[in-house]
Amino acid sequence: MTRAQAGYADRSASAIGVFDSGVGGISVLRALRDELPLEKFVYVADSGHAPYGERDDAHVITRSHAITRYLLVQHRIKALVVACNTATAAAIKLLRQDFPDLPIVGIEPALKPAALSSKTKVIGVLATRGTLNSEKFRSLLASLHGQARFVLQPCDGLADAIEHGDATKMIAICADSTGAMGQFGQEQASMDTLVLGCTHYPFIADTLRNLVGDQVAFLEGGVPVARQTRRLLAQCNWLVQQIADATPDAHVAMPIQFFTTGDTENLQTAVNRWLELKVDVQSITIS
Ligand code: DGL
Repeated sequence: MTRAQAGYADRSASAIGVFDSGVGGISVLRALRDELPLEKFVYVADSGHAPYGERDDAHVITRSHAITRYLLVQHRIKALVVACNTATAAAIKLLRQDFPDLPIVGIEPALKPAALSSKTKVIGVLATRGTLNSEKFRSLLASLHGQARFVLQPCDGLADAIEHGDATKMIAICADSTGAMGQFGQEQASMDTLVLGCTHYPFIADTLRNLVGDQVAFLEGGVPVARQTRRLLAQCNWLVQQIADATPDAHVAMPIQFFTTGDTENLQTAVNRWLELKVDVQSITIS
């Protein structure tokens, strides 16, 4: 039974909430905007409490709950996208328990598509320490046992360097991380696929490409998350009515609101650069 059939109020016109520890979730928002160009979005970057990847689960769970409450109470969101692998791994189960009427979509490193598409069946995975150590990730890995070999690499400090636009640090961490993983390429026993298992990492794809070469496929999770969001909203009958002749640039008119618990300029620069949008980012405190 859909939520609409069950008698919940129609929330089609409400916004979709999206959050990440910082700017990384913009890589997911990009895919959401492409998939759902007529929807409204409210984005929260929890940069004042980032990075999540090297913090304990309790911190990530507390922050995820506080942000979800804020989005529900202040923005009356109709769905939530947890645009952070680390927060999904630590908190999504509890969020779904505590907010049972809210459709919630999370993101996980794209191991399944990687196992299907890799030819050498050797796959590199870059993610935060929090994601790689989580129970959720361990069971994802176990579910693919025997299908491919995964080379796991935690990238301490990388999300933070991306957050602050520290290019020197970014390049150094990428070089160390890829260097420690082994051989990349199409040859037998080499990694022909690299999973970008943190939503910040698509923004440094060029740096990684210079290090691993042109032969390696990069996989990120934004597009499947966007499709799943559409599916969930369609099930609830909460999709904004799609107009058949929507112009390809219809999304330009759709409002996306941006909030950060940290530095507004960082988020503004990232939105400008990655979504090609000029917006006013608002500073907030969420406790
Ligand atoms: N962007 C987040 C992720 O996808 C985490 C970055 C951080 O460590 O805060 O895992």
